[in-house]
Amino acid sequence: MNSIRRAPLLAPSFLAADLANLQAETERLASSAADWLHFDVMDGRFVPNISFGLPVLQAVARYAKQPIDVHLMIEEPQHYLAAFRDAGASIITVHYEACTHLHRVVQQIKQLGCRAGVALNPHTPVTLLEDIAADLDVVLVMSVNPGFGGQAFIPNTLKKVAALKELLIDAGSDALIEVDGGVSLDNAGPLVQAGTDVLVAGNFVFSAPEGPVATLARMREYLTGMELTAPERFAHERGQ
Ligand code: DX5
Ligand code: ZN
Repeated sequence: MNSIRRAPLLAPSFLAADLANLQAETERLASSAADWLHFDVMDGRFVPNISFGLPVLQAVARYAKQPIDVHLMIEEPQHYLAAFRDAGASIITVHYEACTHLHRVVQQIKQLGCRAGVALNPHTPVTLLEDIAADLDVVLVMSVNPGFGGQAFIPNTLKKVAALKELLIDAGSDALIEVDGGVSLDNAGPLVQAGTDVLVAGNFVFSAPEGPVATLARMREYLTGMELTAPERFAHERGQ
């Protein structure tokens, strides 16, 4: 996992993209500051909304230059892991709340050659990951209740990220901390200071008047400025 650790990473969410022009959206992100492409799959069961699934991922993957970060907001994700890998997923994240046999699901994702992530709903405590932390590549902390883009960031997420960071260090885990929901330049700074490695942003990136490429560049510039003024944390992140 160390090879992809370059704190912090930016992962624009396709949920907020122009879905009638996915080829164009994917191509313009290809030459942007995006590190991962976040792809939200919703089944209308685990979350009260339906988004898009395998054929759409396959279409996006034809034009994608960055790794595709698939966030499965679905029940029984174990049945679809291979299909998502085949459709183009590099990182597959399942919800803690959707998996009775989470350890098995995580191993299955890794056996498929993908990075394995586990997502936590806002009410799910990070301590529940203690016994699986060392097996994970990514922990996705939901900073809204999953199901919709454009919701307000839940401030308790900052405390949660800080606690998760400690838990991962204690567990000797290399997992990246990803935060998803209501992320913008209003909260990116504190999130990164608390330990966030990957920022997912939907509406902030795609609804900005200047467009996603300029907005991602602005986020990158801001975060690089932070990096220059906070060398200790980033040096630690890189194992220097
Ligand atoms: C919400 C999704 C998010 C969503 C984020 O259930 O998991 O990835 O697209 O969108 P914003 O950034 O608009 O909250
Ligand atoms: Zn998501």
